Amino acid sequence: MTDYVIAPSILSANFAKLGEEVDNVLEAGADWVHFDVMDNHYVPNLTIGPMICQALRDHGITAPIDVHLMVEPVDRIIPDFAKAGASMITFHPEASRHVDRSLQLIKDEGCQAGLVFNPATPLSVLEWAIEKVDMILLMSVNPGFGGQSFIEHVKQKIVAARKIIDASGRDIRLEVDGGVKANNIGELAALGADTFVAGSAIFNAPNYAEVIKNMRTNIADATAN
Ligand code: DX5
Ligand code: ZN
Repeated sequence: MTDYVIAPSILSANFAKLGEEVDNVLEAGADWVHFDVMDNHYVPNLTIGPMICQALRDHGITAPIDVHLMVEPVDRIIPDFAKAGASMITFHPEASRHVDRSLQLIKDEGCQAGLVFNPATPLSVLEWAIEKVDMILLMSVNPGFGGQSFIEHVKQKIVAARKIIDASGRDIRLEVDGGVKANNIGELAALGADTFVAGSAIFNAPNYAEVIKNMRTNIADATAN
């Protein structure tokens, strides 16, 4: 049985009380913390860095922290995030000159490594990188902002990525990020995704536990049989 993971993106949390927000969302049933790092260079927005990751660990967060790097270059910042308590680190292959080296660096630092594919980026780099990949993250919006609409063609990409993972025989998570809501999460799970990032759908809701529960019910219904 697949274990489905819900990873709220703290991009939509209230940053003035981030520790409390993360405590609340985990208490509400979330599995991981999705941590969006933006540099106003690779993407047109600026967010949070290793200091905030460390601050969450110091606050007592023990759940996996899923660091999504939207920065260019990537290698300089990887060891800093590993030291700050990242559990997994993903990056966009376009943002690294040497994808294999960046993946190896993440693993050498003791974290799980993943590649992130923008809506228009082909999956072809996986052909010679999959041996070092623990997670494939499919962007279903263009990276940079929360609250955008799900880009429909990414559904076919989920199917394609699932085939690649199954053919590899490796234990690789398939994560989807952008426009994921309670009303489409079931379909995404049925197509083959197992890890779901949701920012605005959770943090803009009055009751985090209720949304997460709805998400899990919809996943279970869509994947039953
Ligand atoms: C966008 C980020 C996402 C974002 C998702 O670049 O990678 O993680 O927070 O936000 P929603 O779920 O609101 O689309
Ligand atoms: Zn993200």
